[in-house]
This record gives sequence, structure tokens and C-alpha cells, in this order.
Amino acid sequence: MVKVLFVCLGNICRSPLAEGVFKNAIKIRGLSGKIECDSAGTSTWHIGEIPDPRSIEIAEENGISLDHFGQQVNGRDFSEFDYIVAMDDNNRQVLISIERRSGGKAKIIKMMDFDDYRSGGNVPDPYYGGHDGFQRVFNMLEESCSNFIDYLVEEHQLA
Ligand code: 4NP
Repeated sequence: MVKVLFVCLGNICRSPLAEGVFKNAIKIRGLSGKIECDSAGTSTWHIGEIPDPRSIEIAEENGISLDHFGQQVNGRDFSEFDYIVAMDDNNRQVLISIERRSGGKAKIIKMMDFDDYRSGGNVPDPYYGGHDGFQRVFNMLEESCSNFIDYLVEEHQLA
């Protein structure tokens, strides 16, 4: 089993949406049982909370239901997961500093390492914006998750 953890700041907007988009694609592509994922935040702000209503809404508009409760990333995750996927550079910096203390096998990557341009850019925090921002984030996540799954299938010979 290849295990992936998506990480953002609050674990209520971007990373639970990434989790939902990724799980949906895994199911559609018949990869359940080969790849699994979860999500977490670098902060403690929204532990135990359901995702932001705007993430739930944009997911539902695309036939995806989000069933996640907020949690904080921790050192053990670096032993449990194969890939820890940061949404932006701030997330990535926090992950690198946790990993320095905890060790572990997980590779720290960025979601946008897998957009169509392999840009390595940031998935912007949509928290202080409106529906448009969430739509834009959704599109970025759909594209990047699809390319990331292609990569995992090839890299781990899952086909
Ligand atoms: P996320 O977005 O990191 O994509 O979940 C945010 C959620 C909450 C806050 C900031 C960003 N906040 O300030 O509470």
C-alpha cells in the first residue's frame, strides 16, 4: 500500500479537498487497495472540525463528499506515510522542521510539483476569499492529483 498525507495550514480548506479529490480518482481508476490517503494541518486551530463549508460545497458540486475531521500532522506521520504533500512553501518548511526531529521514510513534496507544468508553485490559501478561489483550488487539485497518481502508478508499478 502506498500511503499519502496531504497537508495545509488549517486542514479545513485545501488538504481535505485534496484528500476527497484524490480518493475519488483512486476509486474511479480502480486503485483502491493500492493507494490510500489522509490529510492534516500544520496548526492546531481546527482539530476535530469538519471541512470549511465552501470546500464541502465545491466538492459536492463535483460529486465528491468529504468525510474528514481536522487533525494536526506529527512526527509519527513521517514513518507511517510514503509521501507527505504540502500545499505551499510555508507548509513545506514546517514539515521539513518536523522531519528533522522525527526522521522517517516519508518524501516531502509539493502538490504543484505535479501540476501540468510541474511548476512547484503554491496552492493558494482560499480561506479569506470567495467561491471563485475555492473553484480555482479545486481545479488545481484535480489536475495535480491526476498527474500525481500517474506518477505513483509508474513509480510503484501499480497498474
Ligand atoms: P487551509 O486554509 O490551510 O487550506 O485549511 C485555512 C483554514 C483556516 C485558516 C487559515 C487557512 N485560519 O486562519 O483559521
